[in-house]
Amino acid sequence: MQKITAAITAVGKYLPDYVLTNKELETMVDTNDEWIVSRTGIKERRILKGDNKGTSFMAIRAAKNLLEKKNIDPKEIELVIVATATPDMQAASTSAFVATEIGATEAFSFDLIAACSSFLFGMSTAAKYIESGRYKKVLLIGADKNSSMIDYTDRATCIIFGDGAGAVLFEPNTEGLGLQDEILRSDGVGREFLHVKAGGSMLPASEETVKNKLHYVHQDGKTVFKYAVSNMADVSAKILKRNKLSLTDVDWLAAHQANKRIIDATARRMKLDEKQVMINIDKYGNTTSATLPLLLNDYENELKKGDTIIFAAFGGGFTWGSIYYKWAY
Ligand code: UT7
Repeated sequence: MQKITAAITAVGKYLPDYVLTNKELETMVDTNDEWIVSRTGIKERRILKGDNKGTSFMAIRAAKNLLEKKNIDPKEIELVIVATATPDMQAASTSAFVATEIGATEAFSFDLIAACSSFLFGMSTAAKYIESGRYKKVLLIGADKNSSMIDYTDRATCIIFGDGAGAVLFEPNTEGLGLQDEILRSDGVGREFLHVKAGGSMLPASEETVKNKLHYVHQDGKTVFKYAVSNMADVSAKILKRNKLSLTDVDWLAAHQANKRIIDATARRMKLDEKQVMINIDKYGNTTSATLPLLLNDYENELKKGDTIIFAAFGGGFTWGSIYYKWAY
């Protein structure tokens, strides 16, 4: 029997219209464009405005963009995974709402929550369903409304994050393309350095938690930066070695867009040229689960069948990993 690999066959995206520039941030907190660009590489980010709009609002639109581009009947989708760190609500699966709204009435669905590594872990998960031979069309959406948990008076976090969504479709491939190998990791040591303290089961919402601003993202940036640089570069170098890939074998690095300096450090460790590094952090900032699928959308026209891509991500928890992938169209 022919070996089945799992390959991305279509991509889609949604970005909110509102552009929050560094200039506007200068009017909100004590910061400046020069500092933000030189320390992070971010020039602007998108913010989802309006009442009653959650992560699903963007996830639905990214999925519909993909379905329309590829002219797919949503009833053919068998599984919808929403990778996110900002689900619409507690207790109700965001993915179920998304699947119903896009017309994927024959699918089952679940949310996958692993902070900034949600989409990377989602790629691994989606691929397993395809590789098993049982599923033929798995829709993976990475979407986050980070603005829902950011304190716009805290200059340490508000300059970094943005909102957005990207979707990819995984289908079986018999040419040996798609996901080749993965190294995925986590370490609970990271919990104290990057979290939203309240609103979960440990510290439910109360007057006290709101007063103490515990529903906002807290990040010890310096510590997270150090772990991100060494861990993301480590797994990326390791996956090259394990697969006996030389420099000339790698066409692209698609790394989580958290800070341009972290991406550059990973690329240096892999000895990649700047032209091989996918970048869009300047336009969108850190969109958590949406960074990797947004990269694929932005670079779709430059990718060639058979191109080797190394995906890498690092996020809260800590969670991180690397995927070796061959582009299939
Ligand atoms: O996606 C999930 C994983 N997250 C990450 O990977 C993020 C990792 N961390 C980072 O990207 C960086 O640590 C930040 C971008 C968050 C911060 O950059 P940094 O170079 O680590 O800055 P810092 O926190 O060490 O601050 C350096 C200086 C400080 O001033 P002093 O103490 O040296 O006088 C800060 O007060 O810069 C100051 N500062 C700012 N200045 C202007 C901090 N934030 C700002 C700001 N504007 N927004």
